[in-house]
Amino acid sequence: MSQTTPTEIDQESAADAFTDECVLVLDFGSQYAQLIARRVREQNVYCRIVRHDLSAERIAELKPKGIILSGGPASVYEDGAPRCDPELFRLGIPVLGICYGMQLMCKALGGSVDHTPSREYGRARVAIQERRALFEGLPDAMDVWMSHGDQISGIGEAFQTMASTDTCPYAAIAHRELPVFGMQFHPEVTHTPLGSQVLHNFVIGVCGCEGTWHLGDFADALIEQIRKQVGSRRVICGLSGGVDSSVVAALLYKAIGPQLSCILIDNGLLRKDEQGAVITEFSNHFKADLRVVNAEQRFLETLKGISEPQEKRKRIGYAFIDCFQEEARSIEDAHFLAQGTLYPDVIESGAAKDGPAATIKLHHNVGGLPEKLGFELIEPLRDLFKDEVRRLGEELGLPEVLVWRHPFPGPGLAVRCLGEITREKLDVLREADEIVVNEIKAAGLYRQTSQAFAVLLPVQSVGVMGDARTYDNAVAIRSVNTDDFMTADWSRLPYDLLAKISTRIINEVKGVNRVCYDISSKPPATIEWE
Ligand code: XMP
Repeated sequence: MSQTTPTEIDQESAADAFTDECVLVLDFGSQYAQLIARRVREQNVYCRIVRHDLSAERIAELKPKGIILSGGPASVYEDGAPRCDPELFRLGIPVLGICYGMQLMCKALGGSVDHTPSREYGRARVAIQERRALFEGLPDAMDVWMSHGDQISGIGEAFQTMASTDTCPYAAIAHRELPVFGMQFHPEVTHTPLGSQVLHNFVIGVCGCEGTWHLGDFADALIEQIRKQVGSRRVICGLSGGVDSSVVAALLYKAIGPQLSCILIDNGLLRKDEQGAVITEFSNHFKADLRVVNAEQRFLETLKGISEPQEKRKRIGYAFIDCFQEEARSIEDAHFLAQGTLYPDVIESGAAKDGPAATIKLHHNVGGLPEKLGFELIEPLRDLFKDEVRRLGEELGLPEVLVWRHPFPGPGLAVRCLGEITREKLDVLREADEIVVNEIKAAGLYRQTSQAFAVLLPVQSVGVMGDARTYDNAVAIRSVNTDDFMTADWSRLPYDLLAKISTRIINEVKGVNRVCYDISSKPPATIEWE
């Protein structure tokens, strides 16, 4: 292993180098900031989320074609409410303020904001008065999604009204001189069915973007950049069989071929036949060096007697790092470590340059590696969302089974085998899990569900099989639908499918006599049980 100190590589600039047009989202703590960025990227325009208090000077340096001020939970009159640099409205760059962003903008430019007597939350119908700019090509009225406590009470001389609802006279406004617009409703959510058209009108029509950002070109440029950065040195890459690490490996393989070494740690917490499947997929697509570390014993040992979920996660995390480090040390000239970090991870950890502060969420990611392993990091996916990674995987020629695989957590089956872990319990869970996934696939519903699996409960219950009494384990089926894995709803699987899964598990998996279906949404439940 190389002994160099890790160097901070300014990869934030990577995407910027490949695109001449970018839209910035100033984040005021909105749950929808990432969604806004995704919707803009759907217009083939690169979009970055940045902190709300970035100076107008820094914004001008980044040369965005447009700026979107996100919503946020604060009230513009609260002490310490997040603000932006008011000079940004004078840069001549088009600005769109959404909800809180609109109120802030309106207040900064001479309007007034008041607390509404009752918080407005849900569907509303706006009447469009002024069709130019944002509402070009839209009908006289449309359904929109509102979610606000305050609203604009006066727009002064500076603004004109573009749209209104029965209860919200200034649902959309435009400045009379500056290219500055605001809307009280959320165009980025699916509950505003024509919202994409509104964003299209802003990004393409008002900002004048051409919409030329394509993942294929982005991949070519990334490959070129990796080649330059790596030179003749060696890169190691942890492989899990999931889509992120596979896409990273595919990019690296295209860039540097034989200088890539991949490491697969089998922690004994993988699904049925998973090690073999990953090896087969890998050797079908890459001719690179793959090292498989069989570490089942080591993980089971460290988990022995432990039933507290956080402690399980911690121990698995440490064991993973130790195994990876040991294997990496045996690769003599390894200099770089490639990671499948995605844009939401970068945003949520507060690690993005100019990005929002570390406010939103600290992900409980176990199964990742600390930055201080002594390698230089390569994170080629750090500008991309999960759905973009999947599309990139397709562009790179990875097979559907890999690209559309449901996510699998780093701590693996350990967080689905509740309580203490034993090899026997894991084997029971593996069998049940295989039935759940295979039946959902056979019903043609795998792509329509986001994540589906079995959970082995630490509960035994009475049953009857043949003429005999049984006292066996219970299994829960979990299947969820979600866009971003931060919120999720349980999948409305057909009863017949649930019946088939239940019958098969009880008949075929020794030690299970009861099957339940988990009908909790996230929040308040989480997707995994531990
Ligand atoms: P929760 O259970 O928080 O999970 O609703 C959200 C998503 O994250 C996955 N998950 C993890 N992924 N390491 C990971 O790499 C982890 O420790 C971890 N915990 C949960 C989970 O499978 C779901 O997709």
